Amino acid sequence: MELIRIPRIMHDTAGGHLLHGRSIGFVPTMGALHEGHLSLVRRAKMENDITVVSIFVNPMQFGPAEDLDKYPIDMDGDTEKLRREEVDILFMPDASHIYPKGFSTHIEVEKLSDRLCGAFRPGHFRGVATVVAKLFNIVRPTRAYFGQKDFQQAVIIKKMVKDLDMAIDAVICPTMRENDGLAMSSRNSYLNARERKAAAVISKCLIQTTELIKSGIIDIESIRRFMKEKLSEEPLIAEIEYASVYSPETLDELDRVEKGALLAVALKIGKTRLIDNMLVESQNKIAGR
Ligand code: PAF
Repeated sequence: MELIRIPRIMHDTAGGHLLHGRSIGFVPTMGALHEGHLSLVRRAKMENDITVVSIFVNPMQFGPAEDLDKYPIDMDGDTEKLRREEVDILFMPDASHIYPKGFSTHIEVEKLSDRLCGAFRPGHFRGVATVVAKLFNIVRPTRAYFGQKDFQQAVIIKKMVKDLDMAIDAVICPTMRENDGLAMSSRNSYLNARERKAAAVISKCLIQTTELIKSGIIDIESIRRFMKEKLSEEPLIAEIEYASVYSPETLDELDRVEKGALLAVALKIGKTRLIDNMLVESQNKIAGR
């Protein structure tokens, strides 16, 4: 595995591969890699000639009161995991290379960035879109891979790719889960043992809500009440930021689940913010009624 730290070298190396007609699969990450990331790496390897993984903890996507300073870092562990997956290139730039002095350009994907997590993390998706656009320009991928766990992020990146005519296929891959259903996330490492056990309530709530919708309950009031009740059964939940049903395309909250819908939750257990989601089709759609 080649380690590249300088954007210009990454750009030129990618150019060499493209010139030889090789496709580039790209997995952007902030490190602290887990099976969720590695599933993206395996998919990228399967579908491309060259696989590039980036590790860059992007300061621009963290708010002033967020966890930038304590975000988990495991450089040796990450490098070893990527070596074992036979990744071709690890791109690990410094912040000063990504945001040189005087940097002042930002990407704003309007509307999609304001709702769900965007309402609670102002500026977060502006930071994500800006760094992903930069990484795309540097790595020059044919395909880029994102986990469904960060569904809003993936939708925003797909929209940016479309709006800016980037010739990149942004691929959304399934969420990887622990045995008790908890969506894998680097932030799960913040949870103590009791909190970790409590966190399983999120996926349980999403599964039970999916069943509720499939049984024919499709009005938003009933669904929202049901989700809140299920989550409130867990006393360690400190705050529910949102728990509802949204359009998977526009991310608008739905009045009724008449076709495909996104069930999404964001909450805090102790100080740790966790998100998860599931896509669901209503019973009406399945029965063709
Ligand atoms: O999902 C992440 O880890 C980050 O938001 C990303 C896409 C690497 C951008 O910093």
